[in-house]
Amino acid sequence: MELAQEIRRRRTFAIISHPDAGKTTLTEKLLLFGGAIHVAGAVKSNKIKRGATSDFMEIERQRGISVATSVMGFEYRDIKINILDTPGHEDFAEDTYRTLTAVDSVIIVIDCAKGVETQTRKLMEVCRMRNTPVMVFINKLDRNGKDPFDLLDEIERELKIRVRPLAWPIGMGPSFRGVYNLYENKLNLFLGEDRQTAAGEVIEVDLHDPRLDELVSAREAETLRADLELVNGVYPAFDTDTYLSGEVAPVFFGSALNNFGVMELLDCFIRIAPFPRPSRTVERPIDPFEEKMTGFIFKIHANMDPNHRDRIAFLKICSGVFERNRPYLHVPSGKNLKFSSPNAFMADRKSIVDFAYPGDIIGLHDTGTFKIGDTLTEGEKLKFTGIPSFSPELFRYIENADPMKFKQLSKGIDQLMDEGVAQLFTSKMNGRKIIGTVGALQFEVIQYRLEHEYNALCRYEPMALYKACWIESDNREQLEDFRKRKHQSLALDKHGREVYLADTSYALSQAIERFPDIRFHFTSEF
Ligand code: G4P
Repeated sequence: MELAQEIRRRRTFAIISHPDAGKTTLTEKLLLFGGAIHVAGAVKSNKIKRGATSDFMEIERQRGISVATSVMGFEYRDIKINILDTPGHEDFAEDTYRTLTAVDSVIIVIDCAKGVETQTRKLMEVCRMRNTPVMVFINKLDRNGKDPFDLLDEIERELKIRVRPLAWPIGMGPSFRGVYNLYENKLNLFLGEDRQTAAGEVIEVDLHDPRLDELVSAREAETLRADLELVNGVYPAFDTDTYLSGEVAPVFFGSALNNFGVMELLDCFIRIAPFPRPSRTVERPIDPFEEKMTGFIFKIHANMDPNHRDRIAFLKICSGVFERNRPYLHVPSGKNLKFSSPNAFMADRKSIVDFAYPGDIIGLHDTGTFKIGDTLTEGEKLKFTGIPSFSPELFRYIENADPMKFKQLSKGIDQLMDEGVAQLFTSKMNGRKIIGTVGALQFEVIQYRLEHEYNALCRYEPMALYKACWIESDNREQLEDFRKRKHQSLALDKHGREVYLADTSYALSQAIERFPDIRFHFTSEF
């Protein structure tokens, strides 16, 4: 098949949600309908269960599972679908943010009883930064939840995106009867009997067909007609372009656990979701249809076996065809690298691939060469953008707890930072090393992994900081003044860029006010 055809039939996306909204269940059901797995329960959740904070073996076990489910590829109606899994635990949010840099669209799952939750809001901000097209699946309709109109208002208000329902529920909870599919004018009746395998009964019926009154009750049909009249009055007709530009999110309703509404979501998804889109680099935009291969590393996963320090680096192909055993330029080191066993991921297994196309993710065996954001090309020096580090929120000084193991400790810290586990800052005042993370669990993961993989011991010292932000200014005088006054609160990140460590939100807002010519950035890319 030609490159262009391969690109057009690919859909690479992530499912995101606040923990417990049903992301794992929906992923599994998509795989089930796509024929990639045959029984429910085949995909293990990669979420680190609550209460596992001090159970390191559990973290390790979960890490192993998440390698296996990092990318789930399958074919459905001649479309190659790549679902990128994101960690459910919010302490690993940064990993999720980075995964979002490798997708072309996103499905957001919302629990109909809980509505929009914190994690959903944060993830949506990342999607908005990149204008990622978003679809919404409102889940758990088999349970009582909020009124659908209220939910739509909440999504618009909280996620700051316009919505357009493409399905509409009839009842909810115990009185849930089904969903009317506005995209195809079909009624999908919820039978709720053969719960784990059936997808409900789908009947093609126009909204004004009197049969509708028999299929559901006359009262339910009347409510549905009234609701839909309101929907069509309030929301403009669905326009694929506004979805593709990230302005409008089509909304579906269903129950992932009961397989309900999932097929409709998938069928609409393969029709309207984008195939691989152009990517940005510092030098020039990259079109996926270009002949030459380009790609970037968005995720690195350490091996489960502590005796082997090798890792899997996940490469997103952005253009051209990736071929096994062909040399590619690793831009940061200037070296040519060949890969004899690149892995492709299909549902719950992986296999060696000879070719991979834009939109595909492949796993490369790595012995410490790769860092997040690294580029591979056929010779051109490119640097992909849009793979930012986010301002961490928790900080601790990290100290060597075993003077004999200094080397091991710095190597370990370096490699863990390359993997993107956390960020390392060096205080400009006293040279002390500071670890910044988005979640408390990372500190324990780092300590555990340093000990088990690098044979090094670390100790933490508490540090009360509010936020770290990258600073820059064209006004040298003001910058110098700032440096003098904030001498104790300045640090360098691993690339040597200057970072302001604000103790409190008050200090930060004061600094922003007093130094108007200094730009304070909350992501590392600006
Ligand atoms: P997550 O990945 O977003 O964290 O959520 P996950 O799919 O694990 O779902 C969270 C819980 O919600 C699970 O129950 C799951 O069975 C349930 N769930 C998912 N979809 C639906 C739905 O459509 N209706 C109802 N009623 N429940 C749903 P759990 O008890 O936490 O886990 P489990 O023991 O069932 O695995």
